[in-house]
Amino acid sequence: MIDGKKEKSGKGESSSSCILIENSCEIIGGDFSRAGEASMRLKKELTGLGIHEDIINRAGTAAFEAEMNVIIHAAAGWMRYTVTPEKLRIIVEDMGPGIQDIALAMKDGYSTAPEWVKQMGWGAGMGLPNIKKNSDEFNIDTVVGEGTSLEIIINILKGEEI
Ligand SMILES: Nc1ncnc2c1ncn2[C@@H]1O[C@H](COP(=O)(O)OP(=O)(O)OP(=O)(O)O)[C@@H](O)[C@H]1O
Ligand SMILES: [Mg+2]
Repeated sequence: MIDGKKEKSGKGESSSSCILIENSCEIIGGDFSRAGEASMRLKKELTGLGIHEDIINRAGTAAFEAEMNVIIHAAAGWMRYTVTPEKLRIIVEDMGPGIQDIALAMKDGYSTAPEWVKQMGWGAGMGLPNIKKNSDEFNIDTVVGEGTSLEIIINILKGEEI
C-alpha cells in the first residue's frame, strides 16, 4: 500500500540527469550507538552543496526519523539518497516485520515500540507523521514479515537557487 502525499506519475523519479550526490549507508537494527549516523552524513553533504538551511533541516528531520524507525523496529536496512538541483530523493528500506496497518501507523501517537525503547525517550509515535510533514512527496511500501521501504522527496528548487 502506498501513502502518497501528492499523487504524481513517475513515482518521484527525477527528470534531471544531473546528479549532484548519490550515496548509501547501512543501518543496523538495535544499534542505538550509531543513531543519526546516516542522516547526519546526508545533512553534511547537503550543507556542502550550499543548499538552503530550511531544506537541510526538513531533510535531516525526515531522514533521522526514518533511520530511527529501522533501528527501533527492523533488523537492518539502508538509506540511499540522490540529490539533483531540483530535488532530494531519500529511500530508507529495511528487512523487518513490515507494517500491518499503515493508516494506523501514520496516526500521531501510535507506537508499538517496546517499553525499554520508550524509556530511552523514543516511541512517542511521532516519527512517520513528522516524515510526512517534512516531505513534499512521501510513499510507504511494506510487506508484513519482509520489510518496509519509505520514499521521501523534498523539492529543492522553489524559485530560490541552491
Ligand atoms: N520500519 C518500520 N518497520 C516496522 N514497523 C514500523 C517501521 N516504522 C514504523 N513502524 C510502525 O509504525 C509505528 C509508528 O511509527 P512512528 O515512527 O510514527 O512512531 P515510533 O517509531 O513508534 O515512535 P517515534 O518515531 O516517535 O520514536 C511504529 O510504532 C511501528 O509499529
Ligand atoms: Mg519512529
